[in-house]
Amino acid sequence: MDGSLRNNLEAFFMPFTANRQFKSAPRLLVEAEGMYFKDQAGRRILDGTAGLWCVNAGHGRKPIVEAVQRQVAKLDYAPTFQMGHPLAFEAAAKLAAMLPAPLDHVFFSNSGSEAVDSALKIAIAYHRVRGEGTRTRLIGRERGYHGVGFGGISVGGISANRKFFGPLLAGVDHLPHTHLPEKNAFSKGVPAHGAELADELERIVALHDPSTIAAVIVEPVAGSTGVLIPPKGYLERLREICTKHGILLIFDEVITGFGRLGSSFAVEHFGVVPDMVTFAKGVTNGTIPMGGVILKREIYDAFMEAAPENTIELFHGYTYSGHPVAAAAAIATMDLYKEEGLFERARDLAPYWEAAIHSLKGARNVIDLRNIGLVGAIELEPIPGKPTKRAFDAFLKAWEKGVLIRTTGDIIALSPPLIVEKKEIDRLVETVGEVLKEAA
Ligand SMILES: Cc1ncc(COP(=O)(O)O)c(C=O)c1O
Repeated sequence: MDGSLRNNLEAFFMPFTANRQFKSAPRLLVEAEGMYFKDQAGRRILDGTAGLWCVNAGHGRKPIVEAVQRQVAKLDYAPTFQMGHPLAFEAAAKLAAMLPAPLDHVFFSNSGSEAVDSALKIAIAYHRVRGEGTRTRLIGRERGYHGVGFGGISVGGISANRKFFGPLLAGVDHLPHTHLPEKNAFSKGVPAHGAELADELERIVALHDPSTIAAVIVEPVAGSTGVLIPPKGYLERLREICTKHGILLIFDEVITGFGRLGSSFAVEHFGVVPDMVTFAKGVTNGTIPMGGVILKREIYDAFMEAAPENTIELFHGYTYSGHPVAAAAAIATMDLYKEEGLFERARDLAPYWEAAIHSLKGARNVIDLRNIGLVGAIELEPIPGKPTKRAFDAFLKAWEKGVLIRTTGDIIALSPPLIVEKKEIDRLVETVGEVLKEAA
């Protein structure tokens, strides 16, 4: 391949990217280790976002890399339809052990989007196999992000992700989002106001009748729409209302799982147990694609009891469900999290992180700051008539200064790998401060 072909950026239609802007001034990453990427010019870039919220143990971790290398050489692929290989079972058991007892079975996918679609399908099919086939409605939430499958965008609440794609799934309704800056701005940790927003579920249930509703899906902390932290008591109320009406509650923990909040999962952090948990990203530290659903035993049992002996119980699955290399990566990743105590590390660092994020109070154009675990958000006043520009400019300026941040709308979201050191937290937050000072 000659140089011009190798460097031709045209062919790749990049996802969720301003393609023309990128291709006019590319930001190409070529190596990574620990807290840093290296770009094509050889500059070290501090990773303030754990890649895309996935590299929780930091980059290039040897035990994971070596597990992947060993596995790909030993068993590159094995089907899991009517067949199996030991690592998929081992990975499932390890995952189940991270959650409270009733959540003890695992269905594997390759991404968060597929995890969400799997959970939604399992919810509808579960009611059907129990003789409640009228329960087909799905309830999501405004400002929810559940990936990009048709199920995920239907229950999701981001209009740009929905409006281009036709009528979406039928029979979907949405809870209101929980972002109340007029009451909760500059909250540290869980905001005080807004638990009553969960009661909107009662209104939706009354409208449609419980007998038509299969499941409610929410991110315990909404990540992609700008770190929306659940108001105190909100998740508990959702749980109560779902239980009362026989509706399954799904927590989408694609971001909140694997230590991001300073606990294994949001389930542990908030002490609220849903019926299913979706995961992806941190399960393999981002090295190999993998996702899935952790579900309650009674859901699994319902499928086992409903199908005749020796027949398939769930007509759903992916060629790469429980892929051996992904399973090896997941096992090594979970072992590494445990050995290094990374979830506890995140919890211990959280107060320092909180103080660092809130040190930006009073910085130019900052209208809200919020934090939980090792996640922080800096919300900016949009430039009139040019929404998203202020934050995107900040992203570009931070990149010039060798720091990777992430923006969504006019919100900067920070989520460093859990191995971050205090001096790196300082650099990250100071860089954001400088960028805001210099920006328009
Ligand atoms: C909460 C949540 N669900 C689902 C997804 C989709 O995951 P993927 O991009 O792996 O399909 C994401 C990705 O950011 C997410 O944050």
